[in-house]
Amino acid sequence: MLAVSPKVVEALQNALHHELVSITQYTSHHEVFESMGYPGLSKMLFDDAKGEMAHYEQIADRLLFLDVMPRAKGKIEPLLLDPPDIVKMLEADRELESAAITEYNEAIRLCFKENDHGSRGLFEKMLVEEETHYDNLDRLLKLIETHGAPYLARLAAQPPEMGAGGA
Ligand SMILES: [Fe+2]
Ligand SMILES: [Fe+2]
Repeated sequence: MLAVSPKVVEALQNALHHELVSITQYTSHHEVFESMGYPGLSKMLFDDAKGEMAHYEQIADRLLFLDVMPRAKGKIEPLLLDPPDIVKMLEADRELESAAITEYNEAIRLCFKENDHGSRGLFEKMLVEEETHYDNLDRLLKLIETHGAPYLARLAAQPPEMGAGGA
């Protein structure tokens, strides 16, 4: 059996929690955007949720490979606004991506120190995908900021150009 660093296990469990929060929030936003009449935005968030689900699976796999039961700790509290506010919801989604980028960069440094390069490789792969998610949301928010209501009206009619999935 492989010698496992408890610090790396903790980082993997924290990542599991982060992915669960993202899956829950993006799936909720996907449903809210759909109900508001924004099918393109709705699809973008659904694709993101699927990407985070793939991350969840990969982290759970890694923990099981290390003989640790994959348990996510902490509360799952997606940001839901009533009435919905598209910009604030997208900003909260971008914030989750930003937090994942910070967390996974730290995890990569930790894995390197603990000499667990298998886990480091997983964090590196996920980091690049979170950066893409962040970039897509950031670009979208900047377009909304620049063009305002007319751009939002266009979004209601057609999907944004970028696909923010990335498993
Ligand atoms: Fe993720
Ligand atoms: Fe992400």
